[in-house]
Amino acid sequence: MDPSMVEGLSSSGMFSGNPYFSAGFGLIGVGAVLAILRQGARRAADLTRRQILVTLEIPSKDKSYQWVLRWLSQQHQSTELISMNQNTGMKKFIKNATKPRQLAVETLFQQHDNGNVSAEFSFVPGPGKYFFKFQNCWIQADRVRETRMLDLTNGAPWETITLTTLNRDREVFQKILEKAQNQAMELQEGKTVIYTSVGPEWRPFGPPRKKRLLSSVVLDQNLADMIVTDVNGFIHNEQWYEQRGIPYRRGYLLYGPPGTGKTSFIQALAGELGYNICVLNLSERGHTDDRLNHLLTIAPERSIILLEDIDAAFTKNREKTDLSSSSVHLSMITFSGLLNALDGVSSPEERIIFMTTNHIDRLDPALIRPGRVDLKVYLGDATKYQIQTMFNRFYPEYPESLALEFSELLKDYSVSTAQLQGHFVLFKDSPYSALDNIDSLISSLPPPTLKD
Ligand SMILES: Nc1ncnc2c1ncn2[C@@H]1O[C@H](COP(=O)(O)OP(=O)(O)OP(=O)(O)O)[C@@H](O)[C@H]1O
Ligand SMILES: [Mg+2]
Repeated sequence: MDPSMVEGLSSSGMFSGNPYFSAGFGLIGVGAVLAILRQGARRAADLTRRQILVTLEIPSKDKSYQWVLRWLSQQHQSTELISMNQNTGMKKFIKNATKPRQLAVETLFQQHDNGNVSAEFSFVPGPGKYFFKFQNCWIQADRVRETRMLDLTNGAPWETITLTTLNRDREVFQKILEKAQNQAMELQEGKTVIYTSVGPEWRPFGPPRKKRLLSSVVLDQNLADMIVTDVNGFIHNEQWYEQRGIPYRRGYLLYGPPGTGKTSFIQALAGELGYNICVLNLSERGHTDDRLNHLLTIAPERSIILLEDIDAAFTKNREKTDLSSSSVHLSMITFSGLLNALDGVSSPEERIIFMTTNHIDRLDPALIRPGRVDLKVYLGDATKYQIQTMFNRFYPEYPESLALEFSELLKDYSVSTAQLQGHFVLFKDSPYSALDNIDSLISSLPPPTLKD
C-alpha cells in the first residue's frame, strides 16, 4: 500500500493537514471553553447572589400581604434624602426610593354619619420592581402577578411580593413586617373592618372604616337599646351557655322596608361593640355548602357575620311544602347546607349572625326558627318619634317645635328614615327650608290612603 495513502487515511493526519478543519476545531474548542466559562460565571453569580443577597417572599395568601402592600405604598412617598460626605462635607441629594412605575388603585366608598358618601382612592404599588431605602438598607420590592396560575378557589391570580436585600441586612425583614403590621393595627384601631369572603377565606374589604355612631341611626324608641342589651347579654354570658350545653351563638333578623336603617344599624352596632363585620354573600358563584361551613368556622374573632337580603338567596316557593325543594338557590349552596352552616355544629366559638330582609314573608320558617334566629326586629317606616329625633339631629340649634310641626305634617304618610335623611341633606342649612319644602318630600311618597 502506498504509504502516503495510509497517512491520508489516518484521521489525525488527514484532518491536521486540512487548514480549514483545524480552524473549525479551534473554534469549537473556544466555544466550549466560553460556554463553560459562562456557565461557571452564572453559577458563581448565583452563588454570590445567594451569599450576599437574601429574599423574603410574601404570597398573597398570607395575612401580612395586604399589610406589606399598604406599607410599601408609603415608602415611595418620601423621595429625597440629604446625605453628607464626612470627608468632603459635600451634601448630596439622593432619592430615597424609586417610584414604582405601575400603581394599582384601591377605592373605598365611605358613608358618613350625615349620609354623604365620599370616595377615597389609595394607591398601592402595582406589579413591577422598584427600590426603596429602609433604615439605611436598600431593598428591592418586586410585586409579581402570576399570569398562568390562578387561585382555583376564587379565580384570582396568585401574587407575591418579593423583598430582596443584602444578606447582612436580613434582620430588616422582621422590622418591615412589624412596621407593616403595626401600621395596619393602628389604622384599624377604633375602626370597623369589613371583611368579605374571597374564595375560602375572609379578606378585608378596603381599609378599615370610621365607626358609625350608634346615635346616628335613629330607630324607634328604645329599639336600639333593646338590641344592644341583648347582644351584650350574649357576649358577656359565655359560661351560662356552656353550663347549659347550649351552642354559643345568637342569630338576629332585622326586617322591614328599604331604607329603614337595617344595614346602618348593624354597622353602628359593630362600632359600639368594637366588632368587625364579615359580609357573607350567599349568591356568590363558587360557594358550596362545605365552603360556607368553612367560612363560618374561620370567621375572624370578634366579628358579626352579616347575611344581607337573605330572601334573595333563597326564595320560598309557597306551593311546595318539602323543605329541600322549597328553595331556589342561585349559588351552589343548598338550603339545607345553609341551615347546617348556621347551626354550626363544628364551631364552639362565639358566633353572632345578623340577617336582613325586606320580605320576611318570603323566608322559609326553618331559616328563622329560634336557635337560628333568636331575635327578630321589625324596622318600619319612620314613626313620629323617629321623625322628630332625626329632625333634631340635623338641626340641633333650633327650637324643637319645628320638629314637632314637621312630624305633624307627615303624620298620614309612610316615609322611610332614608327618605327623611335625603330631604334633610337637601336643606341642610335651614330647618325652615326643610319645612317650607316638605311638599317636595310628600310628593315622592305613596298617597296616605294606601297606608296600611
Ligand atoms: N333609622 C335611620 N337613622 C338614620 N339614618 C338612616 C336610618 N335609616 C336609614 N338611614 C339612612 O338611609 C340610608 C340607607 O340606610 P340603610 O342602608 O341602613 O337602609 P336598609 O334598611 O339597610 O335598606 P335596605 O333594606 O334597602 O338594605 C343610609 O344613608 C342611612 O344613613
Ligand atoms: Mg340594607
